[in-house]
Amino acid sequence: MIIHVLTLFPGIVDGALGESIMSRAREAGALDLRLHQLRDYAEDKHLTTDDRPYGGGAGMVLKPDPIFKATEHILGPALESTPRLLLCPQGEPFTQALAAELAECESLFFICGHYEGVDERVREHLVTREISIGDYVLTNGALAAAVVIDAVVRLLPGVLGDELSSTEESHAQGLLEYPHYTRPPEFRGWKVPDILLGGHHGHIAQWRRQQSLERTAKRRGIPSADTSHGALGKSHDCEG
Ligand SMILES: C[S@@+](CC[C@H](N)C(=O)[O-])C[C@H]1O[C@@H](n2cnc3c(N)ncnc32)[C@H](O)[C@@H]1O
Repeated sequence: MIIHVLTLFPGIVDGALGESIMSRAREAGALDLRLHQLRDYAEDKHLTTDDRPYGGGAGMVLKPDPIFKATEHILGPALESTPRLLLCPQGEPFTQALAAELAECESLFFICGHYEGVDERVREHLVTREISIGDYVLTNGALAAAVVIDAVVRLLPGVLGDELSSTEESHAQGLLEYPHYTRPPEFRGWKVPDILLGGHHGHIAQWRRQQSLERTAKRRGIPSADTSHGALGKSHDCEG
């Protein structure tokens, strides 16, 4: 998958996606991460990418022209067919279902805000979707883009060693995952549940399912009977 990120801070994205599984995904070619410095598309000699807000107020706003110019230049004829995603605290909440939807796309283009955010015309006329990674405010969109990219790329075939690990885990089927234990069987007097040591796969599966249901009910409210509302069963729309 080709993923473009337009940002004033490509190093943040590169660093966050430069270790462990993401690093291997990049080396293997599953993730072709293309980082673009917004400042390279500024038009004046001071390489200005921001300006004061009309109407006054604190902070600076990212100007529309470098963002439009960069996006159109980088995507070229692929502009219309590529989802153009703005990281933004006002966007739709990022979920596992949205990660699965984006993982179906051939390429994605992320636009990262900074300061007070981007000129509204970017949202209205360039961006196809706005995504928030949670109801809190970061200083810029680069970390948020890295979070979204990590969650999407780990769903691509071959990125995780064990294919099961992305289908059984929390949120994949609308449930939180069951508890995990490893050796030793007793640690500081705290024991691993006997059922996990017994080796009966049917009983273990039943126990895990029950734990998942109870944990989801306790932490997120009663789980929906329709578990397909997670990553499964959702229609995909990769058209920009
Ligand atoms: C300081 S924030 C701007 C906040 C904006 N003034 C507002 O109140 O909605 C700067 C940039 O960080 C990114 N950002 C901050 N919080 C985010 C979040 N929760 N999810 C996604 N992106 C976020 C966005 O790209 C945003 O343009």
